[in-house]
Amino acid sequence: MATVTIKDKSFETYLSEETIQSRIRFIAGQINSDYKDGKPFFIAILNGSFMFAADLFKHLTIDAEICFIKLASYEGMKSTGNVVTSIGLDEDLFGKEVIIVEDIVDTGKTLHQFLPKLVHQQPKSLKIASLLHKSAATVYPVKPDYVGFDIPDKFVVGYGLDYDGLGRNLKEIYQLI
Ligand code: XMP
Ligand code: MG
Repeated sequence: MATVTIKDKSFETYLSEETIQSRIRFIAGQINSDYKDGKPFFIAILNGSFMFAADLFKHLTIDAEICFIKLASYEGMKSTGNVVTSIGLDEDLFGKEVIIVEDIVDTGKTLHQFLPKLVHQQPKSLKIASLLHKSAATVYPVKPDYVGFDIPDKFVVGYGLDYDGLGRNLKEIYQLI
């Protein structure tokens, strides 16, 4: 098994390029079938989802649109906890069939904070496609509709995911040793 070192940490191969690509083709097939009469609007959340979004989008045979957004969280002025805002979402989502594209759902906190802002715009439907899901670590009520791989609660890098900014370029997904 191949290992890589990023900064001070060692990682070993967890999901091969072919395993990832074949699963993405499968998910694209599900979406092609589920949305055959529609025109989904994908919202990919940067940075981590850029590779997944690109590969998934290539395998769509239906009409679909995509935009890329960045989430920024800051401490709320009065309330406890963070407030999440999005940068780059200029589109009106009213009546649209929205699919969020994420690299990973871990605790679910990010999407739990962000989804109400989308729901507020009254899309026709709102689903989540996440390449990875640490379901055992998910404590917020967030359930991805399309999941690439349900993975254990261990840190992973590669295929868009980073450790301290590095490792996103890896074609495979690696797990912390
Ligand atoms: P939550 O807990 O809000 O986390 O669902 C979502 C965000 O946390 C990052 N994250 C990771 N990034 N390897 C990474 O490179 C991981 O194992 C990992 N777990 C969580 C990620 O940015 C995700 O969008
Ligand atoms: Mg990250």
